Amino acid sequence: MDALEQLVELRVRALGELANIDDVRKLEFWRICYLGKKSQLSVALRSLGELPLDDRKNVGAGTNRLRVELESSLEQKKQALHEAKLLSFIQNDDLDVSLPGYPFPVGRLHPVTQIIYEINDIFTSMGFQVVEGPEVEWDYYNFEALNIPKEHPARDSMATLWIDREKDSVQRQMLLRTHTSPMQIRFMERVKPPLRIVVPGKVYRYEATDATHISMFHQIEGLAVDRGINMADLKGTLYEFARRFFGENRKVRFRCDYFPFVEPGVEMAIDCAVCKGKGCRLCGSSGWIEILGAGMVHPEVLKRVDIDPEIYTGFAFGMGIERIPMLRYGISDIRLFYGSDLRFLRQF
Ligand code: PHE
Repeated sequence: MDALEQLVELRVRALGELANIDDVRKLEFWRICYLGKKSQLSVALRSLGELPLDDRKNVGAGTNRLRVELESSLEQKKQALHEAKLLSFIQNDDLDVSLPGYPFPVGRLHPVTQIIYEINDIFTSMGFQVVEGPEVEWDYYNFEALNIPKEHPARDSMATLWIDREKDSVQRQMLLRTHTSPMQIRFMERVKPPLRIVVPGKVYRYEATDATHISMFHQIEGLAVDRGINMADLKGTLYEFARRFFGENRKVRFRCDYFPFVEPGVEMAIDCAVCKGKGCRLCGSSGWIEILGAGMVHPEVLKRVDIDPEIYTGFAFGMGIERIPMLRYGISDIRLFYGSDLRFLRQF
């Protein structure tokens, strides 16, 4: 038998066997036998060089054609087996393709994130820019530069989580920021007035956890510095915010407060939405709910970042975020926000 006859015989045998195959495992044996490295076809291809020149061309082309034919027959068989299997599933009722699929879980934004976005929107519409800052902070930015030197009593009101206290220089000590105010300094170091920013982010306090305290929570800081900014701008801006966020007819109350980095300092409250100012459990029977601290940026703070307080003035404010959805939705325990309980989170 010459080489070409052998090919014809091989083809008949291979395709004949393939036609009888009815499962994937047998198909793999067939592949190894007829198309594998040690198959008759591969051996024939490798030993073409031993043939006389005349035969080499014919036999070579024939062998290759057969290889291509066997390969495509293999693919067709694979497809046919797959379809047959699917069909048998359906016919035996093992698979009902008309059943609905599994629901694809769709995520959502955390309620605190939603509130931050809402507040950002209100302030950006008034020309504020949203910036963020580091949560691990130097003592210098968190305290020193904000007029809170080492022995200042204001430090006691912010139980601090220290990262590293060993260094000799106070300015090189590291902590988890206790408020978002350090970004006032960082931003004014880089950008000179006119400037308007809001800074949302996480802050940390070394506090025992209960229904209204948690060691990680969120604040949003505001800062506006320009020529001629005064207390009326502060009140107007925050009043507008309160109206847009809490509703048209909200009453706003400003009272004196003290923060070392503002002068004068104020605290802002809105009238309680539940009792309309009459006094109830939510507002501690005062009729008012305090929502933020604010004030005119202290001249010493401006000087520290090379802004001349004789030319420029500014206001700053800072508010806790979690309290706001708690008031709005009547959530009584702050820990619910961070318990990762989907039954709670899915409600927002
Ligand atoms: N950083 C202050 C706090 O955490 C709030 C504040 C910000 C007060 C800006 C005045 C101005 O209590």
